[in-house]
Amino acid sequence: MSILVTGGAGYIGSHTLIELINQGYKNIISVDNYSNSDESTYARVKEITGVSVKKYAIDLTDKKSCTRLFEEEKIESIIHFAAFKSVPESVENPLAYYHNNLGSLVNILDCCREYSCNQLIFSSSCSVYGNSKELPVTEETVLSKPESPYAQTKFFGEQILMDAVKAYSNLRVIILRYFNPVGAHKTGLNGEPASETPNNLVPYITQTAAGLKEQLQIFGGNYNTKDGTCIRDYIHVSDIADAHILALSYLSKMDKQIDILNLGTGNGVSVLEVVKSFEKVNNLSLNYAIVDRRDGDVEAVYANNSKAIKLLGWYPKYGLEEMMKSAWKWQLHLAENN
Ligand code: UD1
Repeated sequence: MSILVTGGAGYIGSHTLIELINQGYKNIISVDNYSNSDESTYARVKEITGVSVKKYAIDLTDKKSCTRLFEEEKIESIIHFAAFKSVPESVENPLAYYHNNLGSLVNILDCCREYSCNQLIFSSSCSVYGNSKELPVTEETVLSKPESPYAQTKFFGEQILMDAVKAYSNLRVIILRYFNPVGAHKTGLNGEPASETPNNLVPYITQTAAGLKEQLQIFGGNYNTKDGTCIRDYIHVSDIADAHILALSYLSKMDKQIDILNLGTGNGVSVLEVVKSFEKVNNLSLNYAIVDRRDGDVEAVYANNSKAIKLLGWYPKYGLEEMMKSAWKWQLHLAENN
C-alpha cells in the first residue's frame, strides 16, 4: 500500500517527501504537473535522502489520468498539496484557481471513493480566516470573508471535504491550515522552486538580495499594526513537513472522521521585521520601498497552534532567523547551479 503525495515536486511537497523518507516510509508516490515546479526537484530529494521517489507527471484536473493512477497503484493515503497558491495571481485569474484547486480535489475524492482509499491530508491555509477580529486565530474562530479567490478555493475545499465525510463513512480527513511557510531545507539543497516573478515575500527578498530584482516593494505601510506593515505567522517549511508525518499517524487513530489543525508558530511578525531579520542574520542590506497595499491581503493573522501541539505532539523547531538563513543559503545554491 502506498502514500500518494500530490504536488511532490513543489515547495512543501518536496520537503514532505524528504521527511517521509527520513522517517522510514517506503512506497511513496509523487504526482506533479510541474506547473509551478520542476522535475529536477526529485534529484534534490535524492541528493538529500539517497532515495529516488516513484513519480508521475499528471494533471489531476484530468479525471482520466487521475483514474489511471489509482488503477495502477494501490493507494492507502493521500497528502494533497497540488494547488495554485498565489494571492495576487488568483485575483487576476480567479477561474484558473477555481478550476485547478477545486477540480483536482473533486477528482481525487471521486477516485478515493471508487478505489477505497480512505485517508486524506488536505493543504488548507490561514487565508480562510480572512480579516479576523480575534487574534491569534484558533480552529474554532468564526471564519471571516475570504479576501481572495485563492482563499475562497481553500474555504470551498474544506467545505467539500466536510460534505464528503458525511456521505462516505470510511473517509478520514485532516485539514491542515498552513500559515506562511518560508525557509529551506537545512542543507540549503532544497527550497522554494525558483520563479522569475515570485509572488511571495521571502523569495522576493532573496532575489532582491541576489541582485535578480532591483527592489523589494513592501505592500502597504499604513495598516493598523505595530509598524504599519502586514502581520503574518511565518513558519519553517521543514516544520510544516514534519507535521504531515505526525498527521499521518494521527489519521489512523483519529476517533472522528475529520479534524482541522493550525500550523503556525504563534508569532505575529510584520513584513518589516522579516526584512530586518533577513538583513541581520545574513549581514546584508536590502533595497526596499513601501508602496501601495496589494489587493487580497489581510491586515494581520497568526495562529494559536495549541491544538496541533496537543494532538500531533508537534512543535515548530525553527525560529525566524533560521528561516531567513536557510532561505538565503538556498538562493546562493540556486545561483551557483545556474
Ligand atoms: C497567503 C496565505 C498563506 C499561503 C500563501 C501561499 C494569507 C493570509 N496567507 O500568504 O496561508 O500559504 O498565501 O502563497 O492569505 N509582501 C510584500 N512584498 C512582496 C510580497 C509580499 O510586501 O513582494 C507582503 C504581503 O503584502 C504580505 C506578506 O508580505 O503582507 C506575505 O505575503 P506572501 O508571502 O505573498 O504571503 P500571503 O499572501 O500572506
